[in-house]
Amino acid sequence: MPKLNENYLNVQDSYLFAEIARRVKAYEESHPEKAGDIIRLGIGDVTRPLTKSAVEGLHKAVDEQAVPETFRGYGPEQGYAFVREAVADYYRRNGISVDPEAIFISDGAKSDTGNITELFAKDNVILVPDPVYPVYVDTNTMDGKQIVYMNGTEENNFLPMPDDSVKADVIYLCSPNNPTGACYNKEQLRAWVDYALKNEAVILFDSAYEAFISEPELPRSIYAVEGAEKCAIEFCSLSKTAGFTGTRFSYTVVPKQLVYTASDGRQLSLRDMWNRRQSTKFNGTPYIIQYAAAQVFTEQGMKECMENISYYMENARVIAETLRKKNIPFTGGVNSPYIWFKCPNGMESWELFDYLLENIQVVGTPGAGFGVNGKNHFRLTSFGTHEKTKEAMERFDKLF
Ligand code: MLT
Repeated sequence: MPKLNENYLNVQDSYLFAEIARRVKAYEESHPEKAGDIIRLGIGDVTRPLTKSAVEGLHKAVDEQAVPETFRGYGPEQGYAFVREAVADYYRRNGISVDPEAIFISDGAKSDTGNITELFAKDNVILVPDPVYPVYVDTNTMDGKQIVYMNGTEENNFLPMPDDSVKADVIYLCSPNNPTGACYNKEQLRAWVDYALKNEAVILFDSAYEAFISEPELPRSIYAVEGAEKCAIEFCSLSKTAGFTGTRFSYTVVPKQLVYTASDGRQLSLRDMWNRRQSTKFNGTPYIIQYAAAQVFTEQGMKECMENISYYMENARVIAETLRKKNIPFTGGVNSPYIWFKCPNGMESWELFDYLLENIQVVGTPGAGFGVNGKNHFRLTSFGTHEKTKEAMERFDKLF
């Protein structure tokens, strides 16, 4: 009999968004007459189609794959040089210098933030904010690692800061934050970098929502802070920036300066380890997708993405306006596509989930799914259409 990884007994039965989908399906089956009225503002999935640059890139790459002269088979596991250069150029235009050799192309920040746990031994202290994107917690739990939580609360605007009494080895940060929409400023990120350098910790920085930052003084990358290249790995993707949730493209930056001493005294480079891991377990993102992604990173490509982002941010404005009108406290919605609000009438978040689904057929994400500090909060996404978002908030307005 195989001995199973019993750490799986310690994770929730199903992944948060799978559980939401299951509950919505059950509601549809029990209320078929209401199924058509459901408005989904739960999972952060985009509704705008791919941009012109992305679509043209996809077509061109498919045509190349159709003839022997330009056909390509296996590509470099780290990603083609042309797309790593395109990512580096995108960073450069945002005022940040990143070595293309440090950039690894993949199929999603979810996979990379999950897979990176393999590089860290079991006895590390893993510091994770709560509320948090569930992938960081689930993957470390599956691996049997010890997680220490730091609280994100209304008091600290959902932006936990370093605590010198906690000695962390690996720190997860996400800014703009999923789920709270809160965004660290440069001084706050500097405090995290200083903490990591002082404690020889590594920061795993998820910047998947950087393109939604509208206030120019807010950092869009951990590398906006001096010294971060000595202590931070950054994950980003085109899922939300360019609507690639179904197309799949991400990039992870592992600077060559991240070198640590192994127990036998040898030097281990995280970049080399990640390269080794990826070349063993991953055969790369499809050429077609990488080519299209490179078109997205051009100035014209990004201009088109920003038009879609403005569209979503208009939805965020509509959601925020309704919450303000109801005097419901919230964060996010300015530099982030997510709005995180206090459940009205003292409700708990799963209770509110059911209440909204049953009464107004609006699906959101219960804060409890992101950790204990989310018990009385709820997340709405602005990735819907204008029409549906407006309709959802009109129903919400009438309900409360
Ligand atoms: C979310 O809705 O929080 C995420 O976008 C879903 C995911 O990436 O897993």
